[in-house]
Amino acid sequence: MKLKGKNILLGITGGIAAYKAAILVRLLVKEGAQVKVVMTKLAKEFITPLTLATLSKNPILVDFFDPENGQWNSHVDLGSWSDLYVIAPATANTMGKMANAIADNLLVTTYLSAKCPVMIAPAMDLDMFQHPANLKNIETLKSYGNIIVDAESGELASGLIGKGRMAEPEVITERVIEFFTQKKKLKSKKILVTAGPTYEPIDPVRFIGNYSSGKMGYAIAEELALQGAEVILVSGPTNLQINNSQITKIDVHTAQEMYEASVKEFPNCNAAIMSAAVADYRPSELFEKKVKRTNEDLKINLEPNKDIAAELGKDKKEKQVLIGFALETDNEIENAKKKIDNKNLNFIVLNSLNDKGAGFGCDTNKISIIDNKGDKIDFDLKSKQEVAEDIVNELIKRF
Ligand code: CTP
Repeated sequence: MKLKGKNILLGITGGIAAYKAAILVRLLVKEGAQVKVVMTKLAKEFITPLTLATLSKNPILVDFFDPENGQWNSHVDLGSWSDLYVIAPATANTMGKMANAIADNLLVTTYLSAKCPVMIAPAMDLDMFQHPANLKNIETLKSYGNIIVDAESGELASGLIGKGRMAEPEVITERVIEFFTQKKKLKSKKILVTAGPTYEPIDPVRFIGNYSSGKMGYAIAEELALQGAEVILVSGPTNLQINNSQITKIDVHTAQEMYEASVKEFPNCNAAIMSAAVADYRPSELFEKKVKRTNEDLKINLEPNKDIAAELGKDKKEKQVLIGFALETDNEIENAKKKIDNKNLNFIVLNSLNDKGAGFGCDTNKISIIDNKGDKIDFDLKSKQEVAEDIVNELIKRF
């Protein structure tokens, strides 16, 4: 009875995998959870409310009010009743509505007003799953702090074989149990994360920048928040969004702005993870007007920016943990070790440009962690989310 005393709201949307929701309800109830079910109209075509009401021992909710007696089904009350809102199966349509706040049914309205964490198990055909619009919606939902139970690969209802099948009810139940039993190991810790590139202006319309997407730093911020930390995310310009009440985002453009925000925040933090790709140099003078084209060479003098990690390292207190990143093209280990010393880091996350699928812009990364005693751990090629988990687990060991 691992879910005794837990209130779980299950949202069921209209896909063939809806039939598996009956098994999911049974498994959750068997573990001791109180389950209420909210369905979309289409979901009722795939599985009957009677089946779900019988298994959950609660009436099923579909509409904003009961047409028989006018009783109001309050999405606000439902949201505040639940300890976890599980949406399984989640169709592309519903995820699109959730990602864009299209509140045209009780299920999505409840999602928008729910204060509890949300777990989403996508299910659809393989081509729908892979469509960039759908992948973007999933990314958006992740950035809101929602937990995604990834779809599985296999035979789909269409007869095609590929990724899109809803995770099995047993797997979802396991994730729910894990969610409630996981220790929030970073509760009451405040952690600074720098992320993304910096832009060093040349004139009003041009800058020196780099290819950093910020994905790694944002994944780290989300993982820290999942572990209960309060996160200050100092971010250079990226296309990423974050909407998590535990993460405060400070937007910056230049290395100097990132430096100022970081030195201000670090004294109140227990740790800092420096994942930003900070420009080492900036133009020494800023042209006030747009530089015009001529046939002459144009020389731009560059002056060094402050090394933010090294500055934090100088003031680091004994109990504070400072983590750096290194992206090296040659002499990787030797260079990484030098950076640990120069910046007074507890450990450094090394990603090599020599590894396929690692580095800027990719969704995957392959890292090694080298600590200040010289110990090295090599990790496999993983999604940036999994890499973030590995890095955060190493941080937890330092407290
Ligand atoms: N870093 C920083 N401020 C800078 C430059 C780097 O905080 N001005 C941080 C990065 O966020 C990273 C680590 O220092 O965590 C190493 O960054 P990297 O660019 O690899 O190192 P540099 O010290 O700039 O060395 P080099 O570019 O010569 O390899």
